[in-house]
Amino acid sequence: MKLIIDDAHIDQIKKIYEFYPVDGVTTNPTILAQSGRKPYDVLKEIREFIGADAELHVQVVAKTAEGMVEDAHRIQQELGKNTFVKIPSIEQGFKAMKILKAENANITATAIYTPMQAFLAAKAGASYAAPYINRIDNMGYDGVSIAQHIHDIFKNNNLNANVLAASFKNSQQMLDLAEYGVGAATASPDVIFALVKNEAITSAINAFIRDFESLVGEGKTMKDA
Ligand code: G3P
Repeated sequence: MKLIIDDAHIDQIKKIYEFYPVDGVTTNPTILAQSGRKPYDVLKEIREFIGADAELHVQVVAKTAEGMVEDAHRIQQELGKNTFVKIPSIEQGFKAMKILKAENANITATAIYTPMQAFLAAKAGASYAAPYINRIDNMGYDGVSIAQHIHDIFKNNNLNANVLAASFKNSQQMLDLAEYGVGAATASPDVIFALVKNEAITSAINAFIRDFESLVGEGKTMKDA
């Protein structure tokens, strides 16, 4: 399962890239608004930092299929042809996906709450389908289970698409999907930083350091022993 950053704050992205094994960046219009910067300024900075071949997902905003295709072309022009254009999985979106697929675009179908949306998006040419795990949970359904159903539907129908699960609020949701082997998960910096934030882990590491220092001296490590 790929691990992707769902954020547009370049400082956070750089910090996560330094410490964690991540595979790219996803954004949406809300995330861009949170950055408070001009969309293509921040997106170009992200593209430059992660590299031309890394996965970058950027969402269209237009309401019609024709407008979505125009948005997608501008995204590709500004950020590279390989950039994944995120298209909402609605009627107009499926039409846009079919047009863009014919151009060999990389498509991420987004705003997915039901397996049927994902099935139609994959048939329309999406490489990724992004179910919103936590938002689905908040509606009283099981987001992880819906993502697993989508994964199975793709496999059982030989559809060339993967789940890119989004909208996480805790690491258990991510772990359940890693165990199932879905294609990718994208999470906010807060959720990523919390993946190994655990008192037991910190306390175990501190005990090792304390014990070693009691043997060799404060501040000493294996290189000094
Ligand atoms: O791109 C959509 C997804 O990332 C939404 O996440 O946390 O706003 O539910 P969230």
